[in-house]
Amino acid sequence: MEKYEKLEKVGEGTYGKVYKAKDKATGQLVALKKTRLEMDEEGVPPTALREISLLQMLSHSLYIVRLLCVEHIDKNGKPILYLVFEYLDTDLKKFIDSHRKGPNPRPLPPSLIQSFLYQLCKGVAHCHSHGVLHRDLKPQNLLVDKEKGILKIADLGLGRAFTVPLKSYTHEIVTLWYRAPEVLLGSTHYSTAVDMWSVGCIFAEMARRQALFPGDSEFQQLLHIFRLLGTPTDKQWPGVSSLRDWHVYPQWEPQNLASAVSALGPDGVDLLTKMLKFDPADRISAKAALDHPYFDSLDKSQF
Ligand SMILES: Nc1ncnc2c1ncn2[C@@H]1O[C@H](COP(=O)(O)OP(=O)(O)O)[C@@H](O)[C@H]1O
Ligand SMILES: [Mg+2]
Repeated sequence: MEKYEKLEKVGEGTYGKVYKAKDKATGQLVALKKTRLEMDEEGVPPTALREISLLQMLSHSLYIVRLLCVEHIDKNGKPILYLVFEYLDTDLKKFIDSHRKGPNPRPLPPSLIQSFLYQLCKGVAHCHSHGVLHRDLKPQNLLVDKEKGILKIADLGLGRAFTVPLKSYTHEIVTLWYRAPEVLLGSTHYSTAVDMWSVGCIFAEMARRQALFPGDSEFQQLLHIFRLLGTPTDKQWPGVSSLRDWHVYPQWEPQNLASAVSALGPDGVDLLTKMLKFDPADRISAKAALDHPYFDSLDKSQF
């Protein structure tokens, strides 16, 4: 690790700290992510290695943060793995926060929301075309280059190599705000649609500068969703009442989604509605979203 000059800490996530660092030889800024791997005498678990190579392969997309290399070091006889990523100056959570509070609160420009959502759908479509679900899409896991207006997906695929804990190592509770209803209801075989639900929540959050469904328990999370979108029925979502964690809920009627995201025009609201369909089979795919009329006014040649 002498190759890198550690600068400040930039993040604290589920598995450990993330540092900004400089590659001494090239001057390139990188993000160093220490992973807490349970290693036995056999070394790095093969499942983790498979995930890391998958991540490295996927990260050749422009819309996924680039994994530059992996450093395997030995600290007092304990093996530690560092993932070395390209560095981006902020994440979407910090970016939205800077527009909501501080010296200069202001909405995100509609054209930026459009461009960020397009890049997000590109990245998600890329993962899905390789059979990979992200499963933890949220603003903190989307990195942003403010100057260039670039958005990239981070924190990808480790969900399987390293089991996703309920609490982070700092005991911070893992957010439920972007979790799809089928996951909250205990569905066991879920699909790419879980990521599209998260994309919808992130889209709405960019427009609102606050979370759409800020639940603080799995039950409250479902109530937030049902209060806005209406309590789902078996007619609308076949099989919903047979899911493992289904209960009897208050019967709410759907509210007007457009008024919850007043910064979006009709095309934006239509796309959001398609991302927030209850039945995962009805939810729009990332690939189809890219062709939605909401993006007609976007200059796609820049991508
Ligand atoms: N490549 C990077 N460039 C800049 N900041 C980063 C980078 N990777 C991660 N971060 C920051 O660190 C935080 C945690 O990183 P993340 O990869 O999401 O780890 P975790 O698995 O612990 O959630 C991110 O939310 C972001 O703020
Ligand atoms: Mg993260």
